Amino acid sequence: MKLGIIGSGMIVREFLPDIIALPDCTVKGICGTRRSKEKTEKLARDHGIPKAFTSFEALLEEAIDTVYVAVPNTLHYQYTRAALEAGKNVIVEKPMAGNTREARALAALAREKHLFLFEAITTLYLQNYQMIRRLLSKIEPVKMVLCNFSQYSSRYDAFLKGDIKPAFDPKAAGGALMDLGVYNVHFVLGLFGKPESVTYAANIQRDIDTSGMLTMDYPDFKVVSIAAKDCGAPGGYQIEGSKGYLSMDKPSNSCGPVKLHLNDGTEEIFDVQPRECRVVPEFKAFIDRINRRDFEACYQTLDHSVAVCQVLTEARRQAGIVFPGDSEK
Ligand SMILES: NC(=O)c1ccc[n+]([C@@H]2O[C@H](COP(=O)([O-])OP(=O)(O)OC[C@H]3O[C@@H](n4cnc5c(N)ncnc54)[C@H](OP(=O)(O)O)[C@@H]3O)[C@@H](O)[C@H]2O)c1
Repeated sequence: MKLGIIGSGMIVREFLPDIIALPDCTVKGICGTRRSKEKTEKLARDHGIPKAFTSFEALLEEAIDTVYVAVPNTLHYQYTRAALEAGKNVIVEKPMAGNTREARALAALAREKHLFLFEAITTLYLQNYQMIRRLLSKIEPVKMVLCNFSQYSSRYDAFLKGDIKPAFDPKAAGGALMDLGVYNVHFVLGLFGKPESVTYAANIQRDIDTSGMLTMDYPDFKVVSIAAKDCGAPGGYQIEGSKGYLSMDKPSNSCGPVKLHLNDGTEEIFDVQPRECRVVPEFKAFIDRINRRDFEACYQTLDHSVAVCQVLTEARRQAGIVFPGDSEK
């Protein structure tokens, strides 16, 4: 994979060493804003990336086959669209897009152009998460699911003082649901498919959800998902069935060991995940799918990402959270 990166912010700085170390992946160029030119150039120098740009068009003209889109949420659509139009595969950071309309349009464009489009959502590619699916049969029928991803944000103090970073900015499609809740929604839909209906009760400050509780209604069981950026607690997941329950005490972006508790008191811990940065399994899967030309697997996961966007969009609608892209036809 010959990769070009758009964005030189927090997540790129955190993941870059692991992305560069991946077999079969060469980072050919990185693009930042004009205001961050020096920061982007330094990042390129520090990591041996041959070229740094402030023009996305210039990055697209490089000999790259795939673009990693790591900019604020509201820009995912425009950069992903431009990259697909230019004939590049795309790995777009979560959430795939700001709303359902944008997500559907991107999925359709990828298919039309016969290109790969992946949402970078770590959860789906973690081995411990995939194991949960196999363990479900031991506790079924499932009755209740509880998800909690609450992480006090380093950017919340600034937000309270009026310094609004993208993760808290409705104009940048931010908020607790889009930033952390998205992992819970992927976690749940990846195991159980689309819910029949959702409700979202949120704590709103400055027109954005700083925390909130999403419920998802399935015919035979119910799900409660909490995501918070204005308070913190250890992440926790419980899937409760009539024969026992599964528990996990790490957030679903990294999926720690899974504990199986049966009604007869038996307990067993399952942990099949290699100790590596959480970004590695997803990028390895993307590279593998591209190398094997496995469009079917890519588009199947893309449909799942669109379904997640549908849930997020409906939840936001209920809480009255409006993003710039919502008004476009
Ligand atoms: N997978 C994960 O574990 C994970 C974790 C955190 C975040 N994320 C996702 O990654 C994305 C980026 O998050 P982050 O925390 O890295 O954000 P960030 O620190 O705010 O960085 C965003 C980057 O986008 C650039 N940018 C801003 N406006 C732009 C524009 N109009 N055109 C081009 N570039 C622009 C910023 O440039 P400036 O520095 O000049 O503003 C910066 O380089 C988000 O979608 C987020 O949801 C993923």
